[in-house]
Amino acid sequence: MERTLSIIKPDGVSRGLIGEVIKRFEQNQIRIVAMKMVQLTKKQAEGFYAVHKARPFFQSLTDFMCSGPVVVMVLEGENVIQKNRTIMGATNYKEAAEGTIRRDFATDIEKNIVHGSDAPETASFEIGYFFNAFELIS
Ligand code: CMP
Repeated sequence: MERTLSIIKPDGVSRGLIGEVIKRFEQNQIRIVAMKMVQLTKKQAEGFYAVHKARPFFQSLTDFMCSGPVVVMVLEGENVIQKNRTIMGATNYKEAAEGTIRRDFATDIEKNIVHGSDAPETASFEIGYFFNAFELIS
């Protein structure tokens, strides 16, 4: 059993896509074991995306991520890191497969509706960034 962090980004929240994203997780036998809505500060967004610090899009990405509320969730299931990434689709919505969240709703490589951890090590860091052990349903 694996866990991963999912974020519905400010564009997903403001466009009324929270239910749509959650529906896709539930329809794919993914369990939500923690969930909350938060508005990140610039510092919190920078800390979360620290791995992208040197990228040209870092400032824009972290500004965007604190521009409105986000929904953060811990997802649980077999092979859920990869499963979530398949459901989300490629980072660039133009390259995302049909039927994926990003292909269906994203408008921009940055405003791509959802974030999902890409590996067990990042999942562990990202889950710990938002949730403590008492907030996870076992
Ligand atoms: P995410 O999966 O949250 O991981 C890093 C984010 O940076 C990514 O989704 C996009 O929102 C953003 N991103 C990645 N590549 C680019 C890019 N080339 N230009 C702008 N934003 C990007």
